[in-house]
Amino acid sequence: MANNKLWGGRFKGQSSHEMDEFASSIQFDYLMFNEDIQGSLAHAKMLGEKKIVSPKDYELIRDGLLSIQADYQNGSLQFDLANEDIHMNIEKILTDKIGKVAGKLHTARSRNDQVATNFHLYLKSKLLNVDKLLDNLKDVLLKLANDNIETIMPGYTHLQHAQPISFGHHLLAYYEMFNRDQERFTFNLKHTDISPLGAGAMAGTTFPIDLFLTAKELGFSKVYNNSIDAVSDRDFALEFLSNASILMMHLSRFCEELSLWMSYEFQFIELSDTYTTGSSIMPQKKNPDLVELIRGKTGRTYGDLNMLLVVMKGLPLAYNKDLQEDKEGVFDTVKTVESSLKLFTEMISTMKVNKTRMYQSTLKDFSNATELADYLAGKGMPFRDAHQLVGNLVYECIQKNVSLQNLPIDYLKNKSDLITEDVYDILKSEAAVSRRNSYGGTGFEQVKKQIQNKKK
Ligand code: ARG
Repeated sequence: MANNKLWGGRFKGQSSHEMDEFASSIQFDYLMFNEDIQGSLAHAKMLGEKKIVSPKDYELIRDGLLSIQADYQNGSLQFDLANEDIHMNIEKILTDKIGKVAGKLHTARSRNDQVATNFHLYLKSKLLNVDKLLDNLKDVLLKLANDNIETIMPGYTHLQHAQPISFGHHLLAYYEMFNRDQERFTFNLKHTDISPLGAGAMAGTTFPIDLFLTAKELGFSKVYNNSIDAVSDRDFALEFLSNASILMMHLSRFCEELSLWMSYEFQFIELSDTYTTGSSIMPQKKNPDLVELIRGKTGRTYGDLNMLLVVMKGLPLAYNKDLQEDKEGVFDTVKTVESSLKLFTEMISTMKVNKTRMYQSTLKDFSNATELADYLAGKGMPFRDAHQLVGNLVYECIQKNVSLQNLPIDYLKNKSDLITEDVYDILKSEAAVSRRNSYGGTGFEQVKKQIQNKKK
């Protein structure tokens, strides 16, 4: 009995069901259904134009592919594990529909350049979507920053109160990170927007194809210069996973802060009911599940990146079946990134900011100590001496349970005759923020300027 696979000619025996199950990718690569149809339509059109197939055969193939697309949209299409992947499933269905002429579609093409083309098309559209989602997130951050230019909160180093800052400034730090993410994805798009179609199995083809035509038809701006590279390059996928990992890391840091800020100890923000959950045992609970999940899913994305790096390591040129393992991690990360960005953006646009609480937590925390040291240094005291003096003063205040701004003027003057009544103005949190007017600093004017620049 002959082997019934599309490539069965050279075989006498059959593969086992277990082998088919292990070797097939249709379980996940059906996600590239549309890209496969698109790629085949472009290839068939080019074969027709170059007279590699007759106009009549081209039309039969084209109409067959379009009707398969319609069947897919109706949900009436069935894929078979025995046909391995999306490419051969579609070819099989096409054969059932239009007969032997379907076999002409694969002229001057291999599944190696076919799958690479599909993967490029798939990722290209996803990169454009991620770019839009990042635009939305940046818009929301900018609006939130604008509403909070004058919201004062403690700035932290070592998770200890450091210096009072504008909450808007803190938010804009994340804006910068997401902006860099967007730039990285834009560069990633350059390496994805290249057509491998026409590379054949790995060496090109003897047919008089026009691979610039198919590239143009598919909306690619470039073609691969080397057919071996075309079928074995997965750098664009690795770049995506690595850019996604950095993006998820940024979201995860933000999530960590939101989770702290939502705690009883901080009470800086409250997330809306939509993005929080209750407890099955403790009736009072309101848990920030979404922020924890985004933080947690960052781990999946790192895993997906690591998986593909390991798959690619030491892989000889050109195509190897190992490359079939390139897709699931990318699909998984696309899903993670798309839903994380969307939900995160909605969540922060609906959160309540407790401005009073933020401000109050800068009043008793000695985060104005640098102001006093700067004040003394400004009046001529060497900064190191000023640092020492204020440090001692803070120590005494802790013993007396009093804040720097609540010390009587005589007490302060006794420490240094450089101190005069005007010291109380600079000890205010508002002053600590507004006076930090160096470029990119937290001063209200600086934050305002940054927001204006970004709006442009
Ligand atoms: N399903 C395969 C993949 O995802 C398609 C390419 C198969 N090519 C081959 N020569 N077996 O990589």
